[in-house]
Amino acid sequence: MTRPEEKNMDELVALCKRRGFVYPASEIYGGIRGFWDYGPLGTALKNNIRDWWWHCMVECPPIGPDGEVVSIVGLDSAIIQNPKTWIHSGHVGGFNDPLVDCKACNARFRADHLKLFKVNFPENQSLGEIYVTAMADHLDEKAWSSFEKKIRKVFEANRSYVAEGSPSNQLSENDRLKLRCPNCDTEGKFTEPKTFNLMLDTYPGPIRDEDNKAYLRPETAQGIFLNFKNVLDTMRVKVPFGIAQIGKSFRNEVTPRNFIFRSREFEQMEMEFFCPPDESQQWYEFWRNERYKWWLTLGIAEENLILRDHGSDELAHYSSACVDVEYKYPFTAPGYGELEGVAHRGAYDLTAHSKGDNNKDSNTKLDYFDQELQVKMQNEGVDKETIREKSRYVPHVIEPASGLTRAVLVLLCEAFTPTPEREGSKYILKFKPKFAPIKAGIFPLVNKDGMPEIATKLYMDLRRKYAVEYDAKQSIGKRYARMDEVGTPFCFTIDGDTLTTGTVTVRDRDTLAQERIALDKIDAFLAAKLSQ
Ligand code: GAP
Repeated sequence: MTRPEEKNMDELVALCKRRGFVYPASEIYGGIRGFWDYGPLGTALKNNIRDWWWHCMVECPPIGPDGEVVSIVGLDSAIIQNPKTWIHSGHVGGFNDPLVDCKACNARFRADHLKLFKVNFPENQSLGEIYVTAMADHLDEKAWSSFEKKIRKVFEANRSYVAEGSPSNQLSENDRLKLRCPNCDTEGKFTEPKTFNLMLDTYPGPIRDEDNKAYLRPETAQGIFLNFKNVLDTMRVKVPFGIAQIGKSFRNEVTPRNFIFRSREFEQMEMEFFCPPDESQQWYEFWRNERYKWWLTLGIAEENLILRDHGSDELAHYSSACVDVEYKYPFTAPGYGELEGVAHRGAYDLTAHSKGDNNKDSNTKLDYFDQELQVKMQNEGVDKETIREKSRYVPHVIEPASGLTRAVLVLLCEAFTPTPEREGSKYILKFKPKFAPIKAGIFPLVNKDGMPEIATKLYMDLRRKYAVEYDAKQSIGKRYARMDEVGTPFCFTIDGDTLTTGTVTVRDRDTLAQERIALDKIDAFLAAKLSQ
């Protein structure tokens, strides 16, 4: 298996463009930063992940911690909601990044992405202290040790040094004066951090003024909270239950980068799980473990995936506990970067949207009355005060929130395998067959002698059930190489023997092994491979 450190992002990005996975948005006009278009194969890959998430969360959720059937329903809420939503959710006031500008070259950075390290040389005092500036999303211990290795290389000549200090999230005045601009290398020319709201705004209707300003949602979650009561009143659900949603979100990211890792338009897969407050810790642990296991079902190697608990200084304003599922991306390796967050949001959101003091509020109570529990406690002779307190409450929320487009990136990174030893393809994509955009290539060995007719019939039969591709052009080697590059796990070739034996060759993308299989066994063969 190729290690993430050995994978080159530039080569992967080029392959994605060349083979129709991801294109820069509006490329013919010079592109637009932070936006991407998904080509035919990227769309298929994205849909495969999306459908699997929906199946595992809505149609067939995991069995609960006490062996109970977990109930989760789906939703598709509007991207633009009443702007009061974002005031009460805390996004208008709190969804900010601190920004600094370099006064020498005008480049703009997120202050919390610029890290300052002090390096000193105990065995060579005359060298004094040197400050090094690094760019990082967050430097956890693993990333810090990788950064330290890089500094060690730089200072190798001086043999011994000590790199000090854990990096700070917010830059102090003193830090700013020592920072070097990663763009122009000028020292100490950064402005004070300014807050910058990440929401993209728009003006529905004919009047473009502050009163008519609305926002493109920065997360799908709030649409779920706004519909909590609707779902409760119209569906036969009882707490605990979840509402799941997949859809586009928009953030005016200051530094969109690392291909589709951080973009300004992206897709999320989020589920809000509503539960009684005294069960919330148990459900938090449950979803923490279940979500990690789910990512493994996509064919991601365990050594490339970790769970990282947030420190108290990292928690979002709404969250009392959070754990990230992190992946070892080629650009973070040997460290990891975020893929999904599982947050304990408590009663924050339902309480925030329940306010009822004036016409800026919803004046709607978003709580839950458990009638069954009330009757049970009455029968057990529990006192009235306890019954009232226990049977009506604001549910707590556990939220597994992941990026669908980030999942596409993870599967691309995981599958990307340089194959210098192979003739024809320099790289292949080793997708797990279930997620491959094309499940099988169907080729007549030559475009004559009755072979195209058999291949076409096979293609027409299989395409009713599977995403398959018919190709009769170019040499068979070139056709195999193309399928390897786009990650097609199997190729069925109709050759001279097919006419007499009714069998075809099936070629395996990863092992290159070829075996013969009867035409009427192909359907069962594919069904078995794709069910894994
Ligand atoms: N409702 C909670 C929430 O939105 P988040 O950690 O901000 O939490 C959840 O986002 C997931 O959405 C992230 O783990 C990541 O996979 C994805 N995501 C967030 N911002 C993104 C961006 N700018 N580009 C691509 N994916 C992003």
